[in-house]
Amino acid sequence: MLVFYNGKILDLESVAISPFDRAFQFGDGVYEVIRYYPSEFFKSELHINRLKNSLKEVGIPYNNCDSIESNLNELIKLNNLTDEVSIGYIQISRGYHIPRRHYFDDGMEPTVFMYVEKYPARLEEMTNGVKIGLEEDIRWLRCNIKATSLLANILTRNKAVRKELSEIVWHRNGIITEGTQTNIFFVKNGELFTPLLSNFILPGVTRRVVLDLCGKNGIPFTERNITIDELTKSDEIFLTSTTAEVTPVIEIEGTNVKDLKPGPISRILQKEYSKLY
Ligand SMILES: Cc1ncc(COP(=O)(O)O)c(C=O)c1O
Repeated sequence: MLVFYNGKILDLESVAISPFDRAFQFGDGVYEVIRYYPSEFFKSELHINRLKNSLKEVGIPYNNCDSIESNLNELIKLNNLTDEVSIGYIQISRGYHIPRRHYFDDGMEPTVFMYVEKYPARLEEMTNGVKIGLEEDIRWLRCNIKATSLLANILTRNKAVRKELSEIVWHRNGIITEGTQTNIFFVKNGELFTPLLSNFILPGVTRRVVLDLCGKNGIPFTERNITIDELTKSDEIFLTSTTAEVTPVIEIEGTNVKDLKPGPISRILQKEYSKLY
């Protein structure tokens, strides 16, 4: 596999990142995941803008964000993925210093890593819908930053997999936030609802695209706080993300949501979304 590491294209085996890198020691870095549908990276501008915002929020200086798309396209070509649905992963950490210490100096040299891999659509889940769980949100209060420090996400996600759930959706004091890797929407009486943007959720690119599609297709929507009670009385529920696209939810563990079907609004949005790539 050929990857991008600090300005060079290298064989994965020849990449050597310091164990003193702050991403390794503290999860001190930010990242992005962009879908590649032959023959373009999808909504790359929105992803790069979010990356720039994450970098700004944590104070990592990286001035080459505008080259990322061409770096990724080069990786796609070099790894023979031009005709494959794939993803590009970009990670920028604050860099390294010895000895280990919590505080950091200004002007450190960031560590930049990118790779691409084949990542086909999860058609079974998108067609038949998925089962999810609900749990109290155990994350910090800056969830709008796409940070590599994902301990809460991976522990919760791991629990979901062990329980054969596709996702766990979090709530804070009964107000729905988002899934470990997805944003959430629900439909009631023909209107779509999703949690409003705040420091409690990631501003999903797919979320943005879906709301734009609602605007274009005359589907009324509201961004506001959503309670668990409302969610469990929905007509339709779906999750969105770069890799899940629009994935219907058919069951919520431990609630009366047991026989939801992927509904008409989910289907319209899936279809309209797929027309964009
Ligand atoms: C916590 C969280 N929320 C939402 C999303 C969806 O974001 P996007 O649509 O930009 O992939 C992700 C994606 O990884 C995520 O990790």
